[in-house]
Amino acid sequence: MNSNKNIPDEIPAGTKSLRKRVFAWMLEKNGANIDKELREYRKSLFADLSGTVLEIGPGTGDNFAYYPAGITWIGIEPNTYMSRYLTKKAQEFGFKVDLRTGFAEKIDAPDSSVDTVVCTHVLCSVNDPPGAISEVLRVLKPGGKLLFLEHVAAEKGTVLRIVQRFIRPFWKIVADGCCPDRETVSLLEKSGFDKVTSEKFRMKPVSICPVSPHVFGTAVKKK
Ligand SMILES: C[S@@+](CC[C@H](N)C(=O)[O-])C[C@H]1O[C@@H](n2cnc3c(N)ncnc32)[C@H](O)[C@@H]1O
Repeated sequence: MNSNKNIPDEIPAGTKSLRKRVFAWMLEKNGANIDKELREYRKSLFADLSGTVLEIGPGTGDNFAYYPAGITWIGIEPNTYMSRYLTKKAQEFGFKVDLRTGFAEKIDAPDSSVDTVVCTHVLCSVNDPPGAISEVLRVLKPGGKLLFLEHVAAEKGTVLRIVQRFIRPFWKIVADGCCPDRETVSLLEKSGFDKVTSEKFRMKPVSICPVSPHVFGTAVKKK
């Protein structure tokens, strides 16, 4: 039995649902458009990567284009329909993949074993964000970094924030469990990292889109 009540002991049958299959296909189809908007942020986040990199929720592998050669890559991904797209991209960019089916809330890796954890558009979707972050802290080596790029809640008191709250139940259904209004940076700041650095940006071209407010940055584990 695992101790995290939000995560089933086995990958549920639902993981192999038509919805998961369609979501993987949609992510693959839209990946290039999303990447156009995120290119500069991905480039600057991943420029200095080295050693063992564990990526949670790698999806169809759109981050591979930005990884330097020579890293050892491990992925933790619950949706098994992502793997054929991801494997193809990894091959294209010359990376050997170690893709493990699982959840960020119960990472299949030993304590203090990875140099960097990568997380892009994933903390919006995990069932238990504090549980996932505590697993990230467990697997990072002392001084290791979490690199994140996430869409987040709009500023309090804005119309967009109200819209995000209102559409959340519907959005979760159509976007595979994604919550449009998570307070990711304040959660990271409360989670026991030594230092959290982040910058806000708006994803264009539709800046009134419910998931346009973004953050990217790093969180460093204590040495
Ligand atoms: C919007 S996609 C982002 C994919 C990729 N990181 C990117 O930037 O293109 C969200 C990803 O998180 C994965 N995911 C959802 N819940 C998760 C969990 N609990 N643990 C790990 N990954 C999860 C989904 O299967 C999907 O691959």
